Amino acid sequence: MSPTSDRPVPGGEFALAGTTVARMGYGAMQLEKLSAHPDVAASVLQSALDAGVNHLDTAEFYGAGFVNDVIGRVVDDRDDVVIATKVGATTDSDGPLPLRAAQRPEELRASVEDNLRSLRRDHLDLVYLRRLDVGPGLSAEGDQAVPLDDQLDVMTSLRDAGMIGAVGLSAITTDTLRRALPVGIAAVQNAYSLVERYFEDMLRLTLAEGIAWVPFFPLGGGFPRYPKVTEQPAVRAAAERLDASPAQVGLAWLLQRTPNTLIIPGTSHAAHLAENLAAVDVALDPTTLAELDDLVPVGGTGIEWMPRSA
Ligand SMILES: NC(=O)c1ccc[n+]([C@@H]2O[C@H](COP(=O)([O-])OP(=O)(O)OC[C@H]3O[C@@H](n4cnc5c(N)ncnc54)[C@H](OP(=O)(O)O)[C@@H]3O)[C@@H](O)[C@H]2O)c1
Repeated sequence: MSPTSDRPVPGGEFALAGTTVARMGYGAMQLEKLSAHPDVAASVLQSALDAGVNHLDTAEFYGAGFVNDVIGRVVDDRDDVVIATKVGATTDSDGPLPLRAAQRPEELRASVEDNLRSLRRDHLDLVYLRRLDVGPGLSAEGDQAVPLDDQLDVMTSLRDAGMIGAVGLSAITTDTLRRALPVGIAAVQNAYSLVERYFEDMLRLTLAEGIAWVPFFPLGGGFPRYPKVTEQPAVRAAAERLDASPAQVGLAWLLQRTPNTLIIPGTSHAAHLAENLAAVDVALDPTTLAELDDLVPVGGTGIEWMPRSA
């Protein structure tokens, strides 16, 4: 299915889960900051859709169902928008963190049903199995350390039953991806940005396999301990030369990295959204590109992303 012809296609196109989507998407996690202001959250999301974004990234555990509820209401019955969601964790209102691991097969099924309800869909376009192979965040302990094959069995049976359109993987190692390839993987999400490239090998593997690469933390994320694209002096200098913003330089760099890279920058602010969307018009000249390519070592530091277990 193609986007309707009168809509813009920010960043060019890629076929994701059976639909042609704009490579500039929207990560909805930051909307959880607006849980006291659902109308503002709906308006930010509507602005993204109006600009031609038709790939949204979410999870039931973003704002304890709040983000999915906003998406369900705003997207309504549009069938040209790919909503990608995740299973593998669930809201934990009483715990030390707002979410806990939910990796067991029955928990994956229950989470798919929760997402169907809160997103108001009769099927989910793309569901990432959010593993705990690598950071950040939760780790798999006790009965939450579930063999990959058991989880893939659930995901593929839900796909066969028509509840899921396509299966993605997140927070994985390249070994996990290689082992999962035979079942058909539509997209992979790990942390990756201009300033953190630990998963360069994963990006190359997805490119070789024709799988969408959808890096999370494309600007460095909202948590303080990760390197921020907008704070790097070389990025700021490049932005000034190009009459662009540092965030735009970071997003433009991702878009040119490989044709299978789809970006989902997250924001709760209309002004940041407009700025991020305009990154598709920022052209990186060869000198700037070479400088940015050399900014951090390929492979990054890896400190936050090392596999959790042997
Ligand atoms: N698979 C996974 O495990 C996983 C993990 C994390 C995230 N994700 C997905 O990936 C998406 C993107 O990641 P993310 O939202 O964590 O991180 P991000 O897109 O790298 O950065 C978001 C942070 O940058 C700020 N920001 C956004 N645009 C900006 C701009 N133009 N200038 C300055 N600051 C700006 C946001 O604050 P404001 O709200 O103030 O703009 C927020 O603090 C998420 O929304 C989520 O859908 C997936």
